[in-house]
Amino acid sequence: MTALRMLWMGLVLLGLLGFPQTLAQGEGHVSVQPNFQQGKFLGPWYVVALASNSTWFRDKRTGMFMCKSVLAPSTDGGSLNLTSIFLRRNQCETKIMILQPGKVPGQFNYRSPHSGNTQAISVVETNYNEYALLLSTGTKGMGQPFRMTSLYSRTQTIKDELKKKFTTFSHDYGLTEEDIVFLPQPDKCIK
Ligand SMILES: *[C@@H]1O[C@H](CO)[C@@H](O)[C@H](O)[C@H]1NC(C)=O
Ligand SMILES: *[C@@H]1O[C@H](CO)[C@@H](O)[C@H](O)[C@H]1NC(C)=O
Repeated sequence: MTALRMLWMGLVLLGLLGFPQTLAQGEGHVSVQPNFQQGKFLGPWYVVALASNSTWFRDKRTGMFMCKSVLAPSTDGGSLNLTSIFLRRNQCETKIMILQPGKVPGQFNYRSPHSGNTQAISVVETNYNEYALLLSTGTKGMGQPFRMTSLYSRTQTIKDELKKKFTTFSHDYGLTEEDIVFLPQPDKCIK
């Protein structure tokens, strides 16, 4: 009886303490904007901040600029077309990502046609007309797992509150202060 009760207490404690952490840090247990409305999420966004624990990101982050990403229905039906324009090595480059619908509205899957690596992308929170907080998890390079948070904004400049919100959000998903980059505005490409 006592042993059973102790076991029960242990389970309750695990439930109280352990579970929220797994929710935030475990793969796949990601919250998504409730009642996600895809139509309102479409259109132009600026990617104004990123955070990631990937070694790829640590190497590249100093040369990165804010990019403009336009989200539209893809010509191949059901999926979305995320076309990003960004400055790299003093040139404007375009990258197209075709996002397949995920398990629930607000979740998407992306497969890189070059490397074959896959990513799960979730719109964790958005108010559609101002900002969105996104989380991506997947593999890069030779299959190393990584996670990345991004701050999408409808405008190039953002309020300090939004910076704080993104920092807190990134910490919630296990990223540290050093992993976070607020991207500088480039002088061309996204005007
Ligand atoms: C994605 O959008 C770009 C830019 O509008 C366009 O050039 C491209 O053909 C689109 N691809 C698909 C599959 O929708
Ligand atoms: C990044 O975080 C993911 C998920 O927590 C982890 O599996 C991975 O090993 C981490 N990658 C690096 C390079 O630290």
